[in-house]
Amino acid sequence: MVDSNILKENVGKEASELIKDGQVVGLGTGSTTHHFIRYLGERVKNEGLEILGIPTSFQSTLLARESGIKITTLDEHDIDIAVDGADEVDSNLDLIKGGGAAHTIEKLVDSSADEFVVIVDGSKVVEKLGAFPVPIEIIPESLRLVKNAVMELGGKPEVRMGIQKDGPVITDNGNFVLDTKFDNIENPYELEIELNTIPGVLENGIFSGIADKVIVGRDSGNEVIEK
Ligand code: A5P
Repeated sequence: MVDSNILKENVGKEASELIKDGQVVGLGTGSTTHHFIRYLGERVKNEGLEILGIPTSFQSTLLARESGIKITTLDEHDIDIAVDGADEVDSNLDLIKGGGAAHTIEKLVDSSADEFVVIVDGSKVVEKLGAFPVPIEIIPESLRLVKNAVMELGGKPEVRMGIQKDGPVITDNGNFVLDTKFDNIENPYELEIELNTIPGVLENGIFSGIADKVIVGRDSGNEVIEK
């Protein structure tokens, strides 16, 4: 069995080869997009590619800078192509994201891109979304009320706690994350909308209907799934 980090590297490399000179590129967050950003930086250096990156987190901002990718913002540019990882991908190319708590800016960037390409290793491909708890970014003051509302929708919310930091994880936007297990996500689109109408919720990690293509890293090589 091929190590999952190698599979992530394989898909990151393939996605970096999709980027064309002059494009504005959404830069996702996580261990898979790490490889994408590194390989894209190599292309900037070796081929003189003139591109601009729009990062989705502090993590991707720092990595883009280190990799020699020029950065811009959504205020200044539209995005031609975004490349991002995922925690789960189903057969409709609906996703759960936010394992790294970056899903709010990721959704802004990924959904506004002309083309959104997802890169994952094979372990992320599922029949049905929901084994991975849905991350919900909430305003800290809303904690009790949002928890109650989410439980009414059948979710089991848990505040994500820091590692090497006491207390809750604080997102790049200064908020909490509620990791919420749903036993059965019959309709990802409906749940995505319902969660976002709860006052205090900033954004949830269900990304329905926005991925155009998924590159899946498998032991036998990369597989491309298109809509
Ligand atoms: C960041 O919040 C997430 O949406 C990541 O894109 C997702 O968790 C995938 O991360 P890995 O590539 O590290 O598995």
